[in-house]
Amino acid sequence: MSNLANQWVLITGASSGFGAAAAQAFGAQGCNLLLGARRVPQLEKAANLARQAGAPSAHFRALDVAQTSSVEAFVDWVRTLTPRVDVLINNAGGAHGLDTVAEGRDEDWEAMVQSNLLGLVRVTRAALPLMVNHPGGTIINVGSTAGHTAYEGGSVYCACKAGELQVSRSLRLELCGTGLRVVSLDPGLAETEFSLVRFKNDAARAHRVYEGMTPLSAEDIAETMVWVASRPAHVCIDELLIKPTDQAAMHKVFRRNQAPA
Ligand SMILES: NC(=O)c1ccc[n+]([C@@H]2O[C@H](COP(=O)([O-])OP(=O)(O)OC[C@H]3O[C@@H](n4cnc5c(N)ncnc54)[C@H](OP(=O)(O)O)[C@@H]3O)[C@@H](O)[C@H]2O)c1
Repeated sequence: MSNLANQWVLITGASSGFGAAAAQAFGAQGCNLLLGARRVPQLEKAANLARQAGAPSAHFRALDVAQTSSVEAFVDWVRTLTPRVDVLINNAGGAHGLDTVAEGRDEDWEAMVQSNLLGLVRVTRAALPLMVNHPGGTIINVGSTAGHTAYEGGSVYCACKAGELQVSRSLRLELCGTGLRVVSLDPGLAETEFSLVRFKNDAARAHRVYEGMTPLSAEDIAETMVWVASRPAHVCIDELLIKPTDQAAMHKVFRRNQAPA
């Protein structure tokens, strides 16, 4: 039996991509799930798949991490279901646009800061009282290779993910002695709805991001989340950079069957 069985796992951004895959992966370990995102029908689908995978329970509710009131209402609802959260996965977020600073739009910048950075600290602040009295718990913050290396058009997204890394480091210091561990999980190119959101539903442009290379899948990341959360309680995987083999660096991606430039 998995050492995660019967644990309570709270996942933000569970309506697609990494979050939905994590719901299934933790469900398969026998975990109870608390799923949040803005799109409720997709959350319901993720909860059903998690139950089929083996979750004893999979609860879901609308959550907008950009709104403090929504985060607080969500955690109040969590309290009605369980007195404890064992694993918190701060995954909600994404990129909006790929514009230079000169051409960037306030609404894109604000959405990125609100979800990737402020959302993470809001959810953590609200959920911590359900975690601190239970040593061995895990907070997994989803960062990105973008938090390590800047790229043109990525300014605010890269800043948010660099911010995620620093928040994780601060939190690890603040929680030292509580038995809680804080993990920054930082993926490279992964094919989810990420590029579709970044390019505002331009499917052809989103598809080109992964053309000719083998990206990570949402399941690759979900398996890694399960791995970090299932280490013995005295082991903390502080920071984990995970990239496709075809992506040696942010600027160096091997693509098959492409005419030489
Ligand atoms: N895919 C990649 O290449 C990649 C690489 C590195 C890091 N990441 C990071 O991984 C995380 C998950 O992304 P993904 O690749 O799985 O993309 P995705 O399929 O677009 O999933 C993003 C999730 O975040 C949720 N979300 C966004 N804003 C939210 C908000 N304000 N409140 C609540 N939920 C919100 C979305 O749900 P709703 O729209 O239903 O709210 C969705 O469930 C993000 O933080 C992203 O920055 C992705």
